[in-house]
Amino acid sequence: MYQGYTVITRQDFGDNLKNFLKFSSFYYLTVINRRQVSVLPTILKSLTGNTMKSFEGKVAVITGASSGIGRATAKAFVAEGAKVLAVARNTSRLESLKDECKSAAGQIRVLAGDVTQEGDRKKTVDAGVKEFGGIDILVQAAGIIANGTIENTTGTQWNDMMDINLNSVFRLMQLTLPSLTERKGNIVNVSSVTGTRAFPGILAYCVSKAGVDQLTRCSALELAPKGVRVNAVNPGVVVTNLHRNGGMDEASYAKFLEHSKDTHPLGRAGNPEEVADLILFLASDKAAWITGVTYSVDGGRAQTCFR
Ligand SMILES: NC(=O)c1ccc[n+]([C@@H]2O[C@H](COP(=O)([O-])OP(=O)(O)OC[C@H]3O[C@@H](n4cnc5c(N)ncnc54)[C@H](OP(=O)(O)O)[C@@H]3O)[C@@H](O)[C@H]2O)c1
Repeated sequence: MYQGYTVITRQDFGDNLKNFLKFSSFYYLTVINRRQVSVLPTILKSLTGNTMKSFEGKVAVITGASSGIGRATAKAFVAEGAKVLAVARNTSRLESLKDECKSAAGQIRVLAGDVTQEGDRKKTVDAGVKEFGGIDILVQAAGIIANGTIENTTGTQWNDMMDINLNSVFRLMQLTLPSLTERKGNIVNVSSVTGTRAFPGILAYCVSKAGVDQLTRCSALELAPKGVRVNAVNPGVVVTNLHRNGGMDEASYAKFLEHSKDTHPLGRAGNPEEVADLILFLASDKAAWITGVTYSVDGGRAQTCFR
């Protein structure tokens, strides 16, 4: 029984009656009781054995896929049936990602590349187009953080931050655009709560992420007539390697995460999978009418004010 109805399954009749069952169950549920139409997908799935995943037939290019948010996103896309081109510099971490996806081995290809290098960016787009046939989704998660104020940030630190966090995002969007336009695809950039709110002591990082937000909004308007959507996610503190790679030792990082219980209204830092979930939603057809948003996934942090 399913919500008051007796559901006849494939086992009861065999595969040759599949189409008849599909039609008759649809007729029965729509004509006899319209209120039950919402259960149709579930019932049809049980009748036909159709387990189509939400990104089957789609190709996703993901930068920063060796670690943290990019890695979780790559795994989530693979699990949902997408073909994934995973890009980062650290080859051993990329190989371990591939190992973790070995039950879907044909779906993932890893590519060692530095997003600041034009040759590597072109190699990335070429691989997506030539090896997978085209790119439907571009997720840009590669990024770094470093401390520095208006008084002590050096020119080199500033340029490095802009190069990795902003210039590469702009350039990869440009290079991917012909394929995205052809396939009516979309882009999800990984920004930060620091893109929308000001924080002292990480000046260049905040400016780079504010740039990503505005790049997202402006390009979304420019690309909407072509049917290409552009969105960004703005995480609060997420447990990854970002801060430790940016110079925090283990003790300071533990303290920082403890402090995050107070700075995030929901009482904790986030995890990469929670950000990946939002990225997948924005990249999916369920978000077909969403473009130009910079969407917080931060336990409420962007809503807080210092008191
Ligand atoms: N964790 C947070 O609290 C937080 C909050 C808000 C926003 N974010 C943003 O989320 C994104 C992902 O960061 P994460 O937290 O997941 O940190 P993570 O664990 O350190 O991952 C960063 C990724 O970026 C890659 N990367 C860095 N420089 C690169 C370069 N030049 N070329 C290619 N790949 C590069 C790294 O790979 P390789 O080292 O292998 O190249 C790694 O895969 C970043 O844009 C970050 O700003 C993070």
